[in-house]
Amino acid sequence: MLFRGWGEAVDGQWPDTATVVDHVGVPHLVVTRHALVRQVLTDPVTFRPDNALDAVTPIPVAALRVLAGHRFRLPPTLANNGGASHPEIRGIVADALHPHRVAAQRRWLTGLVRERVAGLAATLDEGRPVDLYAGLAADLPLLVLARLVELPDAPVGVVKDFARAALELFWAPLDSARQLALAAEVGRFHTVLREFAATGGGLAARLRDAGHSPDVVVGALFFLLVAGQETTSQFLTLLLHRLSGEPAVRAGLRAGTVAVDDVVEEGLRLEPPIVTWRRVAAVDTTLGELPVAAGTSVVAWLARAGRDPSVVGAPGEFRPGQPGSRRHLAFGAGPHRCVGAQLARMEATVVVAEATALLDDVTVVRPPWCPDNLTFRMPDAFVVRRA
Ligand code: HEM
Repeated sequence: MLFRGWGEAVDGQWPDTATVVDHVGVPHLVVTRHALVRQVLTDPVTFRPDNALDAVTPIPVAALRVLAGHRFRLPPTLANNGGASHPEIRGIVADALHPHRVAAQRRWLTGLVRERVAGLAATLDEGRPVDLYAGLAADLPLLVLARLVELPDAPVGVVKDFARAALELFWAPLDSARQLALAAEVGRFHTVLREFAATGGGLAARLRDAGHSPDVVVGALFFLLVAGQETTSQFLTLLLHRLSGEPAVRAGLRAGTVAVDDVVEEGLRLEPPIVTWRRVAAVDTTLGELPVAAGTSVVAWLARAGRDPSVVGAPGEFRPGQPGSRRHLAFGAGPHRCVGAQLARMEATVVVAEATALLDDVTVVRPPWCPDNLTFRMPDAFVVRRA
């Protein structure tokens, strides 16, 4: 099976290098070895990115009509763009997320996280439970993104609902009734994005000024609003949950013997919010010993590659700074490697530095629950209370 059990195995066993798995009649070649995953991601000529945003459960006509009614289109823009326009579009987005601009947000973010952590600690002290997803991780990345990139003036909750609906519509196993409901939600926000793409400043204006079509501007904003904030919210939640079960790492952080950025990298290796990413074979080729026919959907299992014993000595253990820890592929690799990696890392280091102490002397009331999804973990609530 392709979805449930990503953390465990495919059909009860770890495939050794690559294996073909069927989902709703569509075969996918699932690649697990670090070297092969890297090979796929860094060779966009043989393994094109065109299918990166294709719905893994084909969208039925009724839901397509709903999307079309909102003029929904996702032309090749960023992650799904193997064409000549990719470097320029990527360059414009990368400028907006330049490391200097990201670094300039650190002080503000630290203040905000401190304020929230103080509030959460007070609630815990009163003996009440707190949800570290809702109370800390859910909206932080969106608030930071909005300071870097001009975004449509929409309430945080609306953007979060839209982003999660998009992740479900394109990457979850779904029935047609659910697809219809999700198409309506995604389509509605797409209309908001289309209006903003035509008139908005900042990134939208820069893409327009560079001569990109309205569809491309909408596509870039769509991807940023989904990938650029939801992924990091998910990672912060998964990492905090993991740290709640790693008292020695927390003690090391307190004592200053464990570095915050090593914790973040080991977190990305062991708890990546994006479990897999897709490419499509452009020609008949081979992967390791395996023949791969042109047109094959290749699922690069990023999470599994991070636990490849040929890369890291203690693959399943959370050991910040261990050799190989930073060789994870959580941000992909090659010409489509995540443009927001610096931003996600900055946000995670602030949260680890400021919020890990909240996890001391608490018990987990409810661990995050992750729905069935090919690619995104999408944890929901993470509730703790004083032990
Ligand atoms: C922990 C958080 C994040 C993770 C794990 C993550 C992971 C990824 C992965 C796996 C890819 C595909 C890479 C490939 O095809 O090789 C990607 C692409 C991308 N990510 Fe992220 N991402 C995160 C946060 C962000 C943030 C904060 C932003 C921006 C605000 C962002 C923007 C992008 C963009 C624009 C692309 C497409 C790049 C291209 O195709 O040229 N991501 N990300």
